[in-house]
Amino acid sequence: MLPFLRRLRERLGPQGYADAADELAPWLTDWRGRVTGKALAMVSPASLEEVRFVVQAAAQEGVPLAPQGGNTSMVAGATPDADGRALLLSMRRMRKIRSVSGEDNALVAEAGVILSDVHDAAEAGDRFFPLSLAAKGSATVGGLVSTNAGGVQVLRYGTMRALTLGLETVLADGTVHHGLKPLRKDNRGYDLKHLLIGAEGTLGVVTAATLALVPRPVERVTAWAGLARLPAALALLRRMEAATGGQVSSFELLPQCGLDLVLAHLPAARSPLGGRHEWQVLIEADTARPGDPLAAIVQQALADALEAGEIADAVIAQSAAQAEAFWLLRESMSEAERREGPAAKHDVAVTVGDMPAFILQTTPEVEAAFPGARVLAFGHLGDGNVHFNVRPPLGDGGEWLGRHIDAINRFVHDAVTAMGGTLSAEHGIGVTKRDEFARLAAPGQLEWMRSIKQALDPKGIMNPGKLLPPCE
Ligand code: MLT
Ligand code: ZN
Repeated sequence: MLPFLRRLRERLGPQGYADAADELAPWLTDWRGRVTGKALAMVSPASLEEVRFVVQAAAQEGVPLAPQGGNTSMVAGATPDADGRALLLSMRRMRKIRSVSGEDNALVAEAGVILSDVHDAAEAGDRFFPLSLAAKGSATVGGLVSTNAGGVQVLRYGTMRALTLGLETVLADGTVHHGLKPLRKDNRGYDLKHLLIGAEGTLGVVTAATLALVPRPVERVTAWAGLARLPAALALLRRMEAATGGQVSSFELLPQCGLDLVLAHLPAARSPLGGRHEWQVLIEADTARPGDPLAAIVQQALADALEAGEIADAVIAQSAAQAEAFWLLRESMSEAERREGPAAKHDVAVTVGDMPAFILQTTPEVEAAFPGARVLAFGHLGDGNVHFNVRPPLGDGGEWLGRHIDAINRFVHDAVTAMGGTLSAEHGIGVTKRDEFARLAAPGQLEWMRSIKQALDPKGIMNPGKLLPPCE
């Protein structure tokens, strides 16, 4: 064993150090099973001091670090490279909620805290942490911050960037940035916090975050509607917002083909609507005001939308259990798709107003350019962000997709770029979007990012291979 690794094992103890192949294996392949890496060992520090020890030791030896939380990255951003030079730095043992403050409307959670535990802690303090996504049972705070995660309530509450008030971070030379104070305003020049949010672990290791809380909703109204046609979604969204005074928190698109896929994998589930509708939306509004007649308002707005020909049918969940059943359908989309096999996955955004046109134009273009391709577009329509995934023809054993995936990715990303949009709205760049990001980066963008990287991580030990392509 290398003396460096022995030092780590001695400092972190048996719970904090592993190098047996079977212990590492579950953490070396990304969630979608596309990328498998190798690591010297997995270290799992349990405190800020231990993280600092690991980073300092790695910096001294020039050993790369691959930070990882719940291993739910959609872009293989938390999988070490295949060269086996890196240490896998698991943050999962840093799982304390350090404080919940009702006065500051803030919660301090360590990097390894699971999102659903943040939700529970906020609720125990009579508050609400309003970021939620399908992987809430395993995604961790450090990963959510590092990828500037989005999810299903961005429409009203924003992404992690809007919800992160402060960070504690170990920088690449082992220095600690203590920035957890929940200041709502701080205008002292460059904002290191905002550089670290979305940096995908390439500038430092986030060890804890101060998260913004909001008043706890006392009521949620969850509805499911079949759209008369896709562009009508925009009028419907703005109608619901106007009627509720901006209380719409989710506006999620599901195509009928996606719903069919989910229903095939969840035999006990039922479609919320009686008939079939090519495009459907899950809408949720919430209120923290007791006595707010939100349900009646949503019901009336849906009736008006029906009358105006925006929707063909709609139903409002009559109980918390029914609302949960609606959400289960939405949140199972990705898992159902994964079980069906590989696809060319995209995470694109254009303006909210352009998204229906993007879907309606790009779908037939992809189908014509790649005969047999099956488009599955779903997601956060209210944010102008849709997962425009392209599935191979039925029965493909991987050969068709392998042959076409790069060209499909380029096709979709070119289309979104032509509309002034982005090829990564909420999943980040990681490895799987890295070359496309570099291909379509704005002039000077990569150089500018590289100079920040060079300033904060001159030895290049922080999550190498992710986000920025290696320099030639
Ligand atoms: C979702 O919206 O369900 C997630 O971002 C996961 C996915 O894109 O598959
Ligand atoms: Zn998503």
